[in-house]
Amino acid sequence: MNVLFEQIGRIVIAKLNRPKALNALNSEIMIELISGLQKYDNYPEVGCFIITGNERAFCAGADIKEMIQKDFSEMFNEDYFGYWELFSRIKTPIVAAVNGYAFGGGCELAMMCDIIYASENAQFGQPEIKLGVIPGIGGSQRLTKLIGKPKAMEMILTGRTIDAIEAERIGLVTQILRKTDFLSQVIHIAQTIASYSKIALKAAKEATNYALESSLKDGIFFERRLFHSLFHTQNQIEGMSAFIEKRTAKFN
Ligand code: CAA
Repeated sequence: MNVLFEQIGRIVIAKLNRPKALNALNSEIMIELISGLQKYDNYPEVGCFIITGNERAFCAGADIKEMIQKDFSEMFNEDYFGYWELFSRIKTPIVAAVNGYAFGGGCELAMMCDIIYASENAQFGQPEIKLGVIPGIGGSQRLTKLIGKPKAMEMILTGRTIDAIEAERIGLVTQILRKTDFLSQVIHIAQTIASYSKIALKAAKEATNYALESSLKDGIFFERRLFHSLFHTQNQIEGMSAFIEKRTAKFN
């Protein structure tokens, strides 16, 4: 298996499992990852995913040994990487826990997640230019939206890699966490997220992502309508009642 899924209570950890290839993304790993996420996305009790790799590599990018065998017509006819659009349709929040290398498609995978925690030893980069190509899973778009054109352009044109400290400083990652017990710290945060109302989590993710694609006016209107829609849920009644009754809310 190229991806190991483990459910712990209300969270699911997806561990990329091609250590010999530094978790390079070939077609198999992509399909296993996305179909696993799609399955658990429908489980009502699952409120957060973690995607992680191993201490050496989160993911060293798309599989160069798979790609070199293809020509333009194969890439075009297969719409190579087009399948990743299904990743963006996952409604449950996804946290990336990045240890080691996150290069090319690995950096792009992290950016497709909703929150990125970096271990002290994490490294990020879009080195595709060194291979005679450019990012292909949204790197030029997401990186630019996240860190701005001057910094994104420099990373993409030079292929320079950056460490966790620089990644946090420029806003590519949410936070650096200690290398020791790195995954346990991420699990703790994911469990907090997953303890909330799943329908509210999905709405929050959808509204926040919409900010990247809409005008402020449209986004505020969309957010307000989603907010209104939550007043039709049991979890909204439970959350507000619990506050007034001075007890911890129990969301389903
Ligand atoms: N694809 C396929 N195999 C890869 C790989 C990749 N992206 N990255 C590493 N590997 C394989 C290596 O070929 C090697 O396999 P063998 O033992 O069979 O030779 C194994 O993983 C270990 O790698 P190294 O021996 O190179 O390990 P290292 O510690 O010396 O270097 C590294 C680590 C700096 C990450 C180096 O492996 C590297 O530069 N990898 C490629 C990074 C890269 O260019 N990523 C972008 C890919 S293109 C892309 O992602 C396009 C896109 O937009 C989606």
